[in-house]
Amino acid sequence: MTTSDTDAARPAPEAKPQAVTPAERKPATERTYSPGLTGVIAAETALGFVDGEKGQLLYRGYPIGQLVEKGTYGQVAELLWTGEWRKSARLVPAVIPEAVLCAMRELPDHTHPMDALRTAVSVWGAWRRPHWPPTVDQARELTAFAPSALAAFHRMRQGLEPVQPNPKLTLAGGFLQQLTGKDPDPAAARALDAYFVVGAEHGLNASTFTCRVIISTRSDLASAVCGAIGALKGPLHGGAPAEVVSQLHEIGSPERAEKWVREAIARGDKIMGFGHRVYRAYDPRAAALRKVAEGMSSMADWLDTAVKVEDVVLRIFGELKPDHVIKTNVEYYAAAVLQGVGLPPDLFPPTFALARMAGWSAHAIEQASADKLIRPDARYVGPPEMDVPSFGSR
Ligand code: ACO
Repeated sequence: MTTSDTDAARPAPEAKPQAVTPAERKPATERTYSPGLTGVIAAETALGFVDGEKGQLLYRGYPIGQLVEKGTYGQVAELLWTGEWRKSARLVPAVIPEAVLCAMRELPDHTHPMDALRTAVSVWGAWRRPHWPPTVDQARELTAFAPSALAAFHRMRQGLEPVQPNPKLTLAGGFLQQLTGKDPDPAAARALDAYFVVGAEHGLNASTFTCRVIISTRSDLASAVCGAIGALKGPLHGGAPAEVVSQLHEIGSPERAEKWVREAIARGDKIMGFGHRVYRAYDPRAAALRKVAEGMSSMADWLDTAVKVEDVVLRIFGELKPDHVIKTNVEYYAAAVLQGVGLPPDLFPPTFALARMAGWSAHAIEQASADKLIRPDARYVGPPEMDVPSFGSR
């Protein structure tokens, strides 16, 4: 199916609101300041649509649940980059340039895998020199390179040699094979591929915005993705699934959940895997990943506990915070899938980055085609103009 097939079935787009022209712009003192840019429209995108009230997430118009059921990450990445939904679209694991391996061998033992991935992308950029504007070929190469690089780092930090990629595998299956050195379990490879699909794109979140800001200066794709990884590294953005795992370990069994959750909320602690800045309905990504986790026999016991604890948490939120709608978010079931395919918790955040590579690079391409420098204003709150005090004779 091509974009034009799809367009035929779609309703006509609504008339676009006009952008503010320089002549219409008021002085900074008269404009509204929106901390955290909340509610500010800073870009137009045809890539992802998030409706927090309805619990809806679309990639180029297609619902996330259907994409997980009917597609692969390779097909979804191609959809994001080109707008085309093609059966033949594939992404296969890439060979890692020697320069990247050398750089990663030099990293200290305590290096976090997120820092290693950012370093690998930076060295890839120095080696490949992906000039502005970013292209679909650059996006394909970088997205295929990143899992191989992360897997190589994980092996080297254990004193093992990197594994050559197997081009017959999918990107997710190849990542598992390059981590372990063994052929991946097909069910695990499919589950991780579904996680990649779910994590590929989510509107103008902090890391995607960072990526677009860097590209808007006509800088290159590797620099933009390094910045995006830096933004995703922050615990407010990409860090929750590992904490979901330790939370469920702490709770131990569903019978202990009621007491544990009530005490945690009374202390003002956050229950990980619940609540979202945008979603007021059940996160559609959590629903899609729950289905995937239900299909993984290795997760049966863990999932049974997770589902029972989820019911308790949702009931207690409904009772204690009736004015706020707090539902399960994507990280709750992402934790199940990532743990189920055998990843150690410190690989959860960079694996999220591997999935988001498709979305970041698609936004980079879209931003470059708009070719508009992103340069907001700040409201000045410092002292008024005054003379610099003299230090006497110089
Ligand atoms: N546990 C306990 N209380 C919560 C939670 C939670 N998980 N989520 C929201 N609340 C409370 C807030 O403390 C606030 O209470 P108050 O008004 O009595 O102080 C109230 O609910 C309203 O919060 P919201 O406005 O809905 O949430 P906010 O936008 O401030 O925060 C956030 C969203 C940061 C995701 C929050 O829900 C949270 O910390 N959740 C746990 C961490 C987590 O799972 N993060 C992953 C998010 S998904 C993602 O980033 C891909």
